[in-house]
Amino acid sequence: MEKEIDILLQETLERLETIDDAKELERLRIEVLGRKGTIPRLFKQLGESHAHERPALGKILNKTRAHLENAFREAESRTKSFAPQISTLDVSLPGRMPYLGHLHPITQVGSEITEIFQRLGFEVVEGPDVELDYYNFEALNIPKDHPARDMQDTFYITDNVVLRTHTSPIQVRVMEKQPPPVRIIAPGKAYRCDSDMTHTPMFHQVEGLMVDRDVSFADLKGVLTIFVHQMFGQDVDLRFRPSFFPFTEPSAEVDILCVMCRGEGCRVCSETGWLEILGSGMVDPEVFKMVGYDPEEITGFAFGMGIERIAMLKYGINDLRLFFENDLRFLEQF
Ligand code: DAH
Repeated sequence: MEKEIDILLQETLERLETIDDAKELERLRIEVLGRKGTIPRLFKQLGESHAHERPALGKILNKTRAHLENAFREAESRTKSFAPQISTLDVSLPGRMPYLGHLHPITQVGSEITEIFQRLGFEVVEGPDVELDYYNFEALNIPKDHPARDMQDTFYITDNVVLRTHTSPIQVRVMEKQPPPVRIIAPGKAYRCDSDMTHTPMFHQVEGLMVDRDVSFADLKGVLTIFVHQMFGQDVDLRFRPSFFPFTEPSAEVDILCVMCRGEGCRVCSETGWLEILGSGMVDPEVFKMVGYDPEEITGFAFGMGIERIAMLKYGINDLRLFFENDLRFLEQF
């Protein structure tokens, strides 16, 4: 009888392995474990066996039954995953939502900036990231020996080719190609050999330029005031602070009232109550001469700002590196 039990176990296990249909499985289960199946029949035979054999055989039989019950349970869950579950499909349940990606916060803020200027009649243009020294420096009134070159840690590709250190060269390229009036906004990447808590070797800027007859500093102030109010809110104060850029004269930097302390003075604004957000000024006559515009006839203003900086101030982000780490927990918040 011991032999018979063993053969039953091995055969049943072998048959189970080949079964992937629920009905066939159930048929086999009834045949082996069902009320009139092989196992109950063997239990009945046990009653007729010699008394001295009975305890040992009973033990084997019980073990075999448990083994088979387990094997059937496993086979059952396997056939379930094969079988189409038509009867349990509820077509009224909502589907699984596909994961939706979205634009990087820098792209979003960049578009937000350009859209504000587009509504004011500015046209979006682009320029090359790999730029001639001439457009990046020379034509912007920064000659070879100018100390302003030291301010920008330039990646040189050759003596005359650089990764642009700002988006300002786009101004020059546009003016070279078309006569005034000009009203452009130019977003793009800029590169400087600099890397710490507040600087990354690649960052983003938006450059703006407006040139026509009688464009004045009042126009510069008006346009940039509208920009600040639309970007940060109507109640955000701004100020124009005298500054210097080789390509503008006079030049001004624009500060907004600190978004953290509202002017009280805090760590973010170094206790000044103000935050610098962009550089600007009236286009220097030397730049106009370089592109063949007559500085006696036309005037213009230009401005440039860092997109990361604007995004950090707008959303209260304190670490620049978050923009470049691609951590979804950060990116998904935008
Ligand atoms: N290019 C300057 C920078 O990267 C920013 C800037 C300042 C651009 C004044 C301008 C401007 O057009 O008029 O720091």
